[in-house]
Amino acid sequence: MNVQATNDICKADIIVGIQWGDEGKGRVVDYYAKDYDVIARFGGGDNAGHSIIVGNTKLALRIVPSGVMHERPVLFIGGGTVVSLAGLLGELGNLEQLGIDISRIKVSDRAHIVLPYHAAQDRANEEARGAAAIGTTGRGIGPAYVDKVARAGITFSDLRNRTVLADKIRFNLTARSGNLAGVAGLPSEEELIAQTLELAERALPHVVDGVGFIHGALEDGRRILIEGAQGSLLDVGYGTYPYVTSSHTIAGGACIGLGIGPTSIGRVTGVVKAYATRVGAGPFPSELHDEQGERLRKAGAEFGTVTGRPRRCGWFDSVAARYAVRINGLTSAVVTKLDVLSGLERIGVVTGYRLGGNRVGFESAGAPGLETEVEWFEGWMEDLTSVRSIAGLPRAAQQYLKELAGFLGVPIDHVSLGPERSQLASYGKT
Ligand code: GDP
Ligand code: IMO
Ligand code: MG
Repeated sequence: MNVQATNDICKADIIVGIQWGDEGKGRVVDYYAKDYDVIARFGGGDNAGHSIIVGNTKLALRIVPSGVMHERPVLFIGGGTVVSLAGLLGELGNLEQLGIDISRIKVSDRAHIVLPYHAAQDRANEEARGAAAIGTTGRGIGPAYVDKVARAGITFSDLRNRTVLADKIRFNLTARSGNLAGVAGLPSEEELIAQTLELAERALPHVVDGVGFIHGALEDGRRILIEGAQGSLLDVGYGTYPYVTSSHTIAGGACIGLGIGPTSIGRVTGVVKAYATRVGAGPFPSELHDEQGERLRKAGAEFGTVTGRPRRCGWFDSVAARYAVRINGLTSAVVTKLDVLSGLERIGVVTGYRLGGNRVGFESAGAPGLETEVEWFEGWMEDLTSVRSIAGLPRAAQQYLKELAGFLGVPIDHVSLGPERSQLASYGKT
C-alpha cells in the first residue's frame, strides 16, 4: 500500500512568562485570543492570577484561560493542571454573572483536584520551613502535585464515580492524619466527602476526555493557543529551585500538560515585563532594595493578584532572560508594562553576574556573594499609555526596546503600554 505522508495538522502556539510570573500573560493571551479557536491552560492552578481589562470590565482569572472575554474560543483546562473545585465553580459563577457562556469551559479528565487538605498541608509545610519558607500562595498547589506523583491524587475522571471519589478522599485523609492533626479549619472526613460530591455534580458537565478533546481540535485544524502560568524562572526543574512552584511552567511543560507531542507546537512567544518582579522568597539578582524599587512597585501597581502581597521589583535581567529564552525555545517576545518606566532619567539592565571576580551565568543566581553588572540606558518622560504605534514612542523608548530585543536574541512582536486590551503597539504596523 502506498501511504502518503501528510503534515496538514494545525500547530498550537504557546505563550509563556519568561520571568518570575505576573509578566502580563493574561493581558497578552486576551489580545491574541481573537485569532484562536481553543485557549488551553497546561499547568499550575489557582496560584495563578491573570488580569484582563477590556473597556470597563476587569477580570482576575485564576484557572479559566484568558480567552474568555472573546465569544468564540473554547477554554480548555488541561490535564497538567491542579484545580480547586470550589475555586473553579466560584470563577465559573462570576463569569456567568457577567453574561459569559460558561458551557465553553472544559476541564480535562486528567486534571487533578485540589482539596482543602492540600491548602492546609501547604500552610503547615511553610510554617515548618520557618525562615526558609518559599512564600507560596498557600493554595495547596505543591501538595496536590506531590499527591499526583505519589499516585495518590484524585482526578476529574474520579468525579464520575461517587464511591471511588469518597474512598480516595478517605485514603488521603488517613494517610495525612499525622501531618494535619491539630490543623484548624478543616472539615471532617464526612463533611469533606459530602462537600466534594456536591461540587463534583456541578463540575461534571465541564469534564471531557482531555486527550480526545485536544487531538480532535488539532486534527480538525482548529487554532490552539496555549497559555502558560507562573514564569519560567519558577519552573520546578529549571527555575531557582527550591524557590519555585511545583510544576513545569516552561514551554516543554505544555506538551506534558496537554498530552501532545513537540511536533504539534508552532510558535513559542515569551511575555517579558520591561523590568522584573518576583513574589515570595528566592534569588532575584536584579532586585532593587531602594527607592527606585519602591517607585517601580508604585508605578506598576505591583501587588499580587492572588495574595495581595507587594511584589519585589528590580531592573530587567538580561542574564535571566537569555536563560529563559533558551529553556523555552522562544521564537518571539511581547514586552509589557513599558509605560511604567516613563519618568526615569535612566533605566538599568543587569547584563552580567560576577562571583569572586569571575563572570558566571544564571545557574549561580542564588549563590551567596553574587554581584551584578548594570548597564544604563536613557529614559524618557512622556506618558506612553495613549501611544498605539512603535513610531509614536519616544526615541529613547524605541532604543530601549531595541536593546531588549538584542538581549533576548528574538524579535519583539508587540509592546503593551497599559493594562487595557487596546493599549498596545505592534512591530510591523505603523
Ligand atoms: P500574569 O499573571 O502574567 O497574567 O500577570 P498579572 O495579571 O498577574 O499581572 C500583570 C498586571 O499588570 C495586571 O494588573 C495587569 O492588568 C497589568 N498590566 C498588564 N500589561 C500592562 C501594561 O502594559 N502596562 C501596565 N501599566 N499594566 C499592565
Ligand atoms: P501567574 O500565573 C507569580 C510563586 C509564589 C511562590 C512560588 C511557589 O499569575 O504569573 P506556589 O503557591 O505555586 O507553591 O508558590 O511561586 N508563584 C507565582 N508568582 N505569579 C504566579 O502566577 C505565581 N504562581 C506561583 O509566589 O514564590
Ligand atoms: Mg499573575
